[in-house]
Amino acid sequence: MKVGLIGCGNISDAYLKNAKVFPNLQFVACADIREDAAREKAEKYGLRHLSVADLLADPGIEIVLNLTTPQSHTEVDRMALEAGKHIYSEKPFGLDAEAGKEILKLAEKKNLRTGCAPDTFLGGGHQTCRKLIDDGLIGRVVAGTAFMLCHGHESWHPAPAFYYLKGGGPLFDMGPYYITALVNLLGPVKKVVAVNTRSTDCRKGIRVNAGKTFPVEVDTHIAAVLEFVSGAVITLITSFDVWKHSGYSNIELYGTEGSLHVPDPNTFNGEIRFFKAGLTSNWATAENPFIYNDNMRSIGLADMAKGIEENRPHRCSGTLAYHVLDVMCSIIRAGKEDRAVAIESTCGRIAPLPIGLKNGELD
Ligand SMILES: NC(=O)c1ccc[n+]([C@@H]2O[C@H](COP(=O)([O-])OP(=O)(O)OC[C@H]3O[C@@H](n4cnc5c(N)ncnc54)[C@H](O)[C@@H]3O)[C@@H](O)[C@H]2O)c1
Repeated sequence: MKVGLIGCGNISDAYLKNAKVFPNLQFVACADIREDAAREKAEKYGLRHLSVADLLADPGIEIVLNLTTPQSHTEVDRMALEAGKHIYSEKPFGLDAEAGKEILKLAEKKNLRTGCAPDTFLGGGHQTCRKLIDDGLIGRVVAGTAFMLCHGHESWHPAPAFYYLKGGGPLFDMGPYYITALVNLLGPVKKVVAVNTRSTDCRKGIRVNAGKTFPVEVDTHIAAVLEFVSGAVITLITSFDVWKHSGYSNIELYGTEGSLHVPDPNTFNGEIRFFKAGLTSNWATAENPFIYNDNMRSIGLADMAKGIEENRPHRCSGTLAYHVLDVMCSIIRAGKEDRAVAIESTCGRIAPLPIGLKNGELD
């Protein structure tokens, strides 16, 4: 399917490079409000560079890949759907649940697909964990922990201010990886409680624009507990306020028959360790039989394109992303209102990838 890219920044190279693995994706054009950024990507990858309006008006483009900053996701998604294109967006799926709901409704009205990052849970690491859980290795998952602790992205990102505006912060930026991964492993979330805070109202650039200050509009330390429909209770802490820590597991799940160490959900691979009561005396390493273990950002887009072609559901769906967005908004609300918040949305079980695929295959 023919794809037009809007938003030619930092992450676009990963999509443009990795998409070459999937024969059903053909990038044809790109656009950005910064014309020079679009021209540069177009020259590098042999695309046409267009204005956003011309890209949306191009009848040959079937899917718009939206890699703009979070504050533009809904606006670009809406324009692309109005123009009759399927959309696949970077995360988060909107700045608030209403925005996400509006996009789902518009897509339904237009009979178009919506897809959203992250797609890292389609990597071998998380697919292996999903299989181990589905096969009952650790029994019923009772509880777990998920941690993403760092001091923010200004240490490496050339334009980090957006990470501290509404739609940013550690929860909206990194939470989608963790919550999506947990929903893939455990199913949808039922209820959340949270206590949130921030270390400062103002941050300083470290790399580019070193010393230049920018405002912090959002909490930067989010401590939440999520109760899943399955009954699992997961403690999730995402923070941009931690300079140093002594090491932690990104995700650990504790079941009735054992424990599972799940790899970093911001990667496609990683060591998978398990402990099985009565079988292992310590952590044992699980084998990973799946194929997609390198950076494969764009696999979710390729899967959506395949779903459209074959009239089957796609895995990184707008429904899933909306549920994740709803959970994140509810965590913020739970903290502000000092109460437990029931999650209104839900999503179906995501189809796992099969074992034995060849590079570029999805079914
Ligand atoms: N950088 C990463 O490593 C990374 C990794 C995973 C996901 N993401 C996500 O990808 C998205 C983009 O991140 P990035 O790091 O590439 O940001 P970036 O600032 O480097 O690039 C974003 C681009 O979008 C353009 N843009 C913004 N609003 C626009 C609009 N309305 N119309 C057209 N173009 C517009 C900007 O001019 C810019 O070139 C974010 O949602 C981010 O959370 C980034």
